[in-house]
Amino acid sequence: MSSTPSASSAPDARAVPERRTSDAAILVHRSGPLRGEVVVPGAKNSVLKLMAATILADGEYHLRNVPDIADVAIMAELLAAIGITTETGQAGELTMVNHGRLVPVAPYELVERIRASINVLGPLLGRVGEVRLSLPGGDDFGSRPIDMHLSGLEAMGAEITLEHGDVVARAERLHGADITFEFPSVGATENILTAAVHAKGTTVIDNAAREPEISDLCAMLISMGADIEGVGTSRLVVHGVEPGALRATDHVTVPDRIQAATYLAAAAVTGGELFLRGARAEHMDMLLRRFTDMGLQLVPQHDGLSVHAPERLRSIDVATLPYPGIATDYKPLIVTMLAVADGVGIVTENLYPGRFRYVEELCRLGADIRTDGHHAVVRGRPHLSGAPVRAPDIRAGAALVVAGLVAEGTTTISGVHHVDRGYDDLVGRLAAVGASIERRAPRS
Ligand code: EPU
Repeated sequence: MSSTPSASSAPDARAVPERRTSDAAILVHRSGPLRGEVVVPGAKNSVLKLMAATILADGEYHLRNVPDIADVAIMAELLAAIGITTETGQAGELTMVNHGRLVPVAPYELVERIRASINVLGPLLGRVGEVRLSLPGGDDFGSRPIDMHLSGLEAMGAEITLEHGDVVARAERLHGADITFEFPSVGATENILTAAVHAKGTTVIDNAAREPEISDLCAMLISMGADIEGVGTSRLVVHGVEPGALRATDHVTVPDRIQAATYLAAAAVTGGELFLRGARAEHMDMLLRRFTDMGLQLVPQHDGLSVHAPERLRSIDVATLPYPGIATDYKPLIVTMLAVADGVGIVTENLYPGRFRYVEELCRLGADIRTDGHHAVVRGRPHLSGAPVRAPDIRAGAALVVAGLVAEGTTTISGVHHVDRGYDDLVGRLAAVGASIERRAPRS
């Protein structure tokens, strides 16, 4: 891999390979109870931010428990354009090298492919003093503004303009500020944190997001030499260090609670029994309580979580909320479980009003779901009926795979590139515990 990066440098052939899967499909057949063990991979929504944090200090980083997912490859490409090289080592390991000559530009072609590209804004501004980042677009489930990221950086002294679709931010040196978020935004918390580590003085972030992935980022920043108090709480206090005071580090990515929940859901709809090695029950507390209400028996262990599903699930009402509430990313899985549970469940979405698009696909499988604004009313049926469906986003794609496990006949899921963005070998992991599932390769 090139060690003299430039804004135009193409990623080397040995970089994390991009997967071309747009035409691939996942075929799922109705499956009996899943049984066995699934190893839960590292979290997408942590590792992408850990990768962006390598902007903050020169040197060689070793990230472990890295999921093998497409978004990691895209983030590696973006960081290559900025000046950081990424190489894969043993399974689950990345070596990243920051050579110190950074190009603070995040081009449209890369930003439009991955929402987490916004996470280079804070570290680049804090380290280099300027950034040009193409304005990220929305998602299939709705518009995703970045006003809180920008107003937080402005409070720290940044001058921000919008030019030809780019956010252009400048600050000779950011200064500390007291910032209170209207809403505990995950991305805004991360960007202010990673900007504040190099700011002059102290930054206080109130109503900060508290997701386990943010605590994971804080742990990596602290191991690099950052001074952060209040980790895991909604008030983060960051005492800025002098430029050059941070160092590269090694870090193990936190296990993915959303992938873990996907295997819980798969066990749940098939009446199965699984051990999820690596799953951290304390990161899923609220979800596990509600799954218990649905009839799952869940036993946290020191090295994972075991689940034993009833013959038929019971319906519940659920509302999504920021952590420690029920994450919006769990919702398509919960709706799928309710679609085959005994009774009627009402699901309320409080984060992304448009995030019900996959419901039409579940209805193609015979689910009885009505949506009205932020709400979905789900009337459970004993089982579904296989059909061709399309994944509209990562989490909905995984939920359709889970639905396929309890649908008579075959469910063919297209739009698999969405699933590949966030799931490390979903098909292989499910097949290994008894699911009747295969991946159809893209036609050449
Ligand atoms: N929001 C604003 N202004 C802002 C920032 C956010 O209005 O400046 C709003 C958003 O529009 C949204 C809500 O606040 O309605 C939540 O946004 P947040 O910033 O918390 O989310 P994010 O950082 O953009 C991350 C995950 C999402 C996950 C959300 C919520 C990553 C890369 N993405 O997004 O994950 O749904 O937090 O937990 O970490 C996924 O993995 O499939 C995914 C979409």
